[in-house]
Amino acid sequence: MPDTRRIIADLLAHYDSHRRRLPWRADPGVRPDPYHVWLSEIMLQQTTVQTVIPYFEHFLTRWPTVADLAAAEQDAVMHAWQGLGYYSRARNLLKCARVVVGEHAGRFPETEAGLRTLPGVGPYTAAAIAAIAFDQPTMPVDGNIERVSARLFAVTEAMPTAKPQLKRLAATMIATHRPGDMAQALMDHGATICTPRSPACGRCPIADECLAHAGGIAADLPRKAPKKAKPTRHAVFFWLTRAEDGAVLFQRRPDRGLLGGMVMPPSTDWRDEQAWETAETERQAPVATDWKPLNGAVSHTFTHFHFQMQVWVGHLRSGRGFDSADDIWSPPDQLDRLALPTVAKKVCRHALSGGTLV
Ligand code: ADE
Repeated sequence: MPDTRRIIADLLAHYDSHRRRLPWRADPGVRPDPYHVWLSEIMLQQTTVQTVIPYFEHFLTRWPTVADLAAAEQDAVMHAWQGLGYYSRARNLLKCARVVVGEHAGRFPETEAGLRTLPGVGPYTAAAIAAIAFDQPTMPVDGNIERVSARLFAVTEAMPTAKPQLKRLAATMIATHRPGDMAQALMDHGATICTPRSPACGRCPIADECLAHAGGIAADLPRKAPKKAKPTRHAVFFWLTRAEDGAVLFQRRPDRGLLGGMVMPPSTDWRDEQAWETAETERQAPVATDWKPLNGAVSHTFTHFHFQMQVWVGHLRSGRGFDSADDIWSPPDQLDRLALPTVAKKVCRHALSGGTLV
């Protein structure tokens, strides 16, 4: 078995000289700000370091403390989150800031169990914050750390079945004197040396301890069960402009579920069948008018499905009495004021570029 004490010592020594400089990381010997750690960990869920950096910096400039964030409007937070995806994170971010300020006097709980009670903080994130911000002896096991563990211990069982075993093995690498640094050292190791496709074993500081390297199978681990193909869903989006000022209709999606709380043009249901019958589409339109389909389609891929969209354009003549509390009318040159997710921006671009009318 690999000698975990040596792995810890060698990886920490390597971390001390090669750590990545990341804006949420404190300098050596300095206690990190729990607000920075929490904000970065929420942003880093399902999102890469490179994508997160500018968002993290923008949030800190705009809301320098958790109290500033707690006092923000939900719309402002959703807007600042635009483009990061997984928008329930943004809603929970604000909820969490308000709980920390309202119920914990502005201080984050220091234990994993305490952190778990916060909105948007699951087991992984609680462990990451506890280790990094409060040096609690725990190990946040993300995809990077799973991969490093699978290789060090030559776990050949396929994912996701191997997950519990990898979690146990990763926990043997908790550095009781520097748990936060060890977790980050493993994250850096997985991101820079022990990478998914072609691990750089030649410059790995713990290659001597690695069973997969010894067996020549590092690049093959962790094994993955074959992926299921993603289904494709289909919908028609309605680009409705009103006669009096040319404004376009948007609607806020319900707070729960995919893209919850985000602003989108209205659409039909999203469903698995490709063909939408004209009569059915018209029934689902926000208003009866002379709808015209645009040529071409818009595509977007979410985590669990591909999405194919048609766009129909229509005009609302004044005096039709159409208006509801959930509607947002925006001039087409001011769309950047709306909290539009990437998929909605694609629809807007298609509509504004005018795909030729069929
Ligand atoms: N991925 C998740 N958390 C991270 C962190 N704190 N540093 C680098 N990558 C991460």
